[in-house]
Amino acid sequence: MSSIPLNVRADFPALTQKIRGRSWVYLDSAATALKPWPVIERISHFYSYETANVHRGAFYLADQATGQFESTRDKVQKFLNAEYREEIIFTKGVTESLNLVAQSLGSLILQEGDEILLSEMEHHANIVPWQLIAEKMGAKIRVIPISDAGEIQMQQAQQLINSRTKILAMTHCSNVLGTVNDVKTLSAWAHAVGAVVVVDGAQMVANFAVDVQEINADFYGFSGHKLFGPYGVGVLYGKKSWLEKMSPYQSGGSMISEVRFEKTSFHDLPNKFEAGTPNIEAVIGLGAALDYVTGKLGLDRIQSYEHQIATEAFEKLSQIPEIQFYGQAALKAPIISFSVGKAHASDIAQILDQENVAVRAGHLCAQPLMRRMKAPGFVRASFSVFNHSADVDQLVQGVLKAKEMLS
Ligand code: ALA
Repeated sequence: MSSIPLNVRADFPALTQKIRGRSWVYLDSAATALKPWPVIERISHFYSYETANVHRGAFYLADQATGQFESTRDKVQKFLNAEYREEIIFTKGVTESLNLVAQSLGSLILQEGDEILLSEMEHHANIVPWQLIAEKMGAKIRVIPISDAGEIQMQQAQQLINSRTKILAMTHCSNVLGTVNDVKTLSAWAHAVGAVVVVDGAQMVANFAVDVQEINADFYGFSGHKLFGPYGVGVLYGKKSWLEKMSPYQSGGSMISEVRFEKTSFHDLPNKFEAGTPNIEAVIGLGAALDYVTGKLGLDRIQSYEHQIATEAFEKLSQIPEIQFYGQAALKAPIISFSVGKAHASDIAQILDQENVAVRAGHLCAQPLMRRMKAPGFVRASFSVFNHSADVDQLVQGVLKAKEMLS
């Protein structure tokens, strides 16, 4: 079926265990990716033999830890094609990345009556931080509508971008619809009126190659855990010209150059935005995850394999009477959200769980989108490189059983 290495499932120990005495199917990679051995072993090795703090050590292991930590920054720079390594800031996840930009950039540039433009398909993490800063600065939130097929209404987006637009913040790929947005065009329109472009890349980076210079994002964020990496680590890419002007979002050790009770001066980038002891093993584990994705697998192969398996799932699920899909864009991540008749999404998920099929259900952290799509709740199956046809068949059997039990 594809050129993904045949033994890829063996990389994920979680798949080799039995649940309720039986094999199981993981279809929730959009919520969090399973972890492959190279990532698990890298973290375990750091804890076992390499533990030391970074950026402050005066001994061998501390230097080694700093080197490993900083080498992940180089890997992320290459992964996103950022111009400078100091444009990569480590955070605890994309949620913190977006809060950092909202607070720090928002308080720098927003004034009363300014507009922040979002889209109807945003995750709560790319809505609420903007509401908080808008309220503080007297700015307004405006929202780009989407079509019934789950795509940005580009003409309306163009009309909404005006001289009051100071920030365009939008997702590169919807966590519900799987839609991949044309952020390059939207970014060009936003820049034409002098707005700053912030992109939530949480669902994008695990499935597609990203080039922040090509799309001309001013800021781009993602989390490590959706990319086969550890929890508690994320990335904020920011253009140096913006990060240099922005004030720190939080403060403490590591981010200062001189502290006096009268006044403190801050470190240069990237340290200015990395206060305190960071999540060292997670940053190093993220480096291992990037090696795994770009080395053994390869993003092109991931994309093409996931497209095939999601297409197969879509075609088989389509045979189920009364199934309704949300998000039919041409360019799509391997994310399928659906409902079946009037059945409650969480009831379907519960029956699937009894069949050992793990999916996510509910509003998927996108309540405005759920209202827009008039969905009673979403059931979401999301796919990754280790899923195979048998997983699709088990999903379809489970949904059929749920339909029968719930109707
Ligand atoms: N944002 C994650 C999801 O879509 C948690 O499930």
